Amino acid sequence: MRRRFARALARPLVVAAAVSALSVGSSGPVAADRVVIGGFPVDASESPWTVALSSRDRFGGTRAGQFCGGVAVGRSTVLTAAHCLDKEVLGGPPERVRDLRVISGRTDLLSDRGGQEVAVRDTWVNPAYDGASNAGDFAVLTLAEPLPADSVIGMAVGGDPAYAVGGAATVYGWGDVSGAGEYPNSLRAARVHVLPDALCEEAYPGDADGVYDARSMLCAGEATGGRDACQGDSGGPLVAQGRLIGLVSWGIGCGRAGSPGVYMRVSDIMRTLGWTRA
Ligand code: ARG
Repeated sequence: MRRRFARALARPLVVAAAVSALSVGSSGPVAADRVVIGGFPVDASESPWTVALSSRDRFGGTRAGQFCGGVAVGRSTVLTAAHCLDKEVLGGPPERVRDLRVISGRTDLLSDRGGQEVAVRDTWVNPAYDGASNAGDFAVLTLAEPLPADSVIGMAVGGDPAYAVGGAATVYGWGDVSGAGEYPNSLRAARVHVLPDALCEEAYPGDADGVYDARSMLCAGEATGGRDACQGDSGGPLVAQGRLIGLVSWGIGCGRAGSPGVYMRVSDIMRTLGWTRA
């Protein structure tokens, strides 16, 4: 646990992609470890609901203090990962981070301009979040001011075809692009697929890194490795068919064959919170 939080803390967000071509037809660990820079740059206007969580006090000012991702599901409501607000990440409870902000509509974090920075008025961390298994990894941020109406994405309710195994999905963030702590300044995305729960159940039967629970988690990436989220992407969106299906949560390494990305399942967030609207 400690290890993972420390990693999340030390490295802000994005989307790594390995060379899947290398993995095809080779069974193995060699290809699996060849995680390389991948994904592709996107402009914030293409995913206006993707936000950066920031604290310059805690994480330094060069990349606007970005340390996790988030997603606007209401004009004043942002979802992120519970582990992003852990005291080991923030150095104390979230309410003690005076400059905790959401940055919306900004592609390049170095620019310190564009889009807006909005203060977080209230944080609510899922009380059922379990740092040992990673179950229930979500939190709700209430913003001090509303975002523009077109910055909001709809959530996929349980049974939505967007959750279908094999479906295409896209993950967005400013996290590590190589698995070696290379943080981009600009927003990136990677195209992945929703994978069978069995793949993640096999990969994560329960060890120090977490336990895959199909009810509340979603397995996504590429079976052969390759495209994936990585450290610093946590809390950011996984989108399919124009709707939010997952939040970046955890995994072992990034983009490795046999270790897909694990996402908090958005339908389970809605169930937990009693949200019925899409
Ligand atoms: N826990 C990481 C973070 O805090 C996200 C890791 C996602 N890993 C993956 N292989 N999909 O940013």
